[in-house]
Amino acid sequence: MVIDFKVLGVETSCDETGVALYCSNKGLLGHQLHSQFATHARFGGVVPELASRDHVRKITPLIKQLFKNTGFEFSHLDAIAYTAGPGLMGALFVGASFAIALAEALNIPTIPVHHLEGHLLAPLMEIPKPAYPFVALLVSGGHTQLIAVRGYRQYELLGESLDDAAGEAFDKAAKMLGLPYPGGPALANLADQVQATQYVFPRPMIGKPGLDFSFSGLKTFTRNAIDASRQSDGQVPMKEKAQIAAAFQKAVVETLTIKCRRAVEQTGIPRLVLSGGVAANNALRKSLMALKNVECFYPRMEFCTDNGAMIAYAGCCAYDHLGEEAFEEGRSIAVKPRWSIEDLVKNEIT
Ligand code: KG4
Ligand code: ZN
Repeated sequence: MVIDFKVLGVETSCDETGVALYCSNKGLLGHQLHSQFATHARFGGVVPELASRDHVRKITPLIKQLFKNTGFEFSHLDAIAYTAGPGLMGALFVGASFAIALAEALNIPTIPVHHLEGHLLAPLMEIPKPAYPFVALLVSGGHTQLIAVRGYRQYELLGESLDDAAGEAFDKAAKMLGLPYPGGPALANLADQVQATQYVFPRPMIGKPGLDFSFSGLKTFTRNAIDASRQSDGQVPMKEKAQIAAAFQKAVVETLTIKCRRAVEQTGIPRLVLSGGVAANNALRKSLMALKNVECFYPRMEFCTDNGAMIAYAGCCAYDHLGEEAFEEGRSIAVKPRWSIEDLVKNEIT
């Protein structure tokens, strides 16, 4: 890697403001995160306009705190990496504008980062880190993808969700169960309290060849189970909710595990990397760890969900692999709310 290259990473793609400092020699120097859960909780989901405003409010104090904690000064920075997409347009613009304005003032390069590449590379910040090639299961709120990663920017999409992403399915099922936002962790907590004995939900698309997923049908099973367990007063007792949550989680975890095993067999790559918000799910981690003859890697819990560290690290990797000249062009503030990770294979910067 480039010697002693220090990158500030800025993440504002959705409902988390994350900033971090990554050094090519010393690794992660520090990071700060603000989750907007309290802002969106009463709406039961992310409100894009409120997300943008909150990023504006939080980004400067977080950077100040990061520099204070690490003893860093702006003059020490070599580049600024920011999430350029995919994500919410307004939210992305906050991070992009901030990063570009600061980099312009400091006369240093900006490195636009693909949010999913940030997730994909996050496990490489850990020790031991996975060697290439590996199969990545990227499971977040917006994406469920299996990717053969044969090297840096050598990504082959093996399969993906045809409808709801795994995280989205968790969030929607949680909402139906009346659980607080963010739904995924709340549903997982409830599910982990019981053994799933009462309901069996289907494992979607496991009978079909291939590596695509479909989780939207699980909503119907969740709805039917909720209706079947209503008492005369219309309420669903907590122990019934726990059974429904457990059946739901088991179905998602087993489906993901079956497809991961298939991806490993199909590619002949016995190394699996789990990343994205749903990688924080304990049942999923346990199930993938139990796969025979497969080495399994994942980031520490705090770097599964959105964070600035993965963006700083992905920025550092991009600069290292693509070289200084790739980032010398004049910059415009552009973001890509929709952006396929496969586009990166062409070594496009944005
Ligand atoms: O990667 P991420 O922070 O944001 C996106 O890029 O989408 O992922 C957020 C998603 C949400 O859908 C959230 O409910 C889910 O990850 N999630 C979980 C858990 N923790 C976060 N889902 C299941 N179990 C968890 N423990
Ligand atoms: Zn994410």
